[in-house]
Amino acid sequence: MIKPDGVQRGLVSEIIGRFERRGYRLVAMKLVQPSKQLAEQHYDDLRERSFFPVLTDFLSSSPVVAMVWSGEDIVVQGRAMIGATNPLKSAPGTIRGDLAIVTGKNIIHGSDSVESAEKEIALWFNDDELCTYEKCTETWIY
Ligand code: PPS
Repeated sequence: MIKPDGVQRGLVSEIIGRFERRGYRLVAMKLVQPSKQLAEQHYDDLRERSFFPVLTDFLSSSPVVAMVWSGEDIVVQGRAMIGATNPLKSAPGTIRGDLAIVTGKNIIHGSDSVESAEKEIALWFNDDELCTYEKCTETWIY
């Protein structure tokens, strides 16, 4: 998910482009203005953390781009492409390492396991919003 700071800073195409160029396939995407309740459900496992109110206020403050990507090892590789939670510790070349400097405003969220991804996809998308398609080899693609 591209978080409010990523959308507000106009980084949507930059981020999507990185996943496309790597070879991952977009399965679902939508711009969503999350309610506080949706933000709290999304970060449900962090309810006891001191930053939970700030984090959920932030997520529900402005639209986010919810996305589902597929491809080889996408959860682990997606997290590697995103970089460490604290952008100051993210390696150059990662999304956060290249584009962010503050933990609370780190541009993008990525599921940390396949199990979390399945839960988060179910939270953000209806089944009929997920597209399955094969790479098209028709001659009109050039
Ligand atoms: S944990 O549980 O400590 O390992 O947390 P972590 O996986 O590093 O972070 C979980 C999400 O909380 C966000 N986070 C914060 N937000 C605001 N302020 C502070 N101090 C803070 N610390 C962590 C962090 O960006 C993670 O959000 P997502 O969207 O998953 O990146």
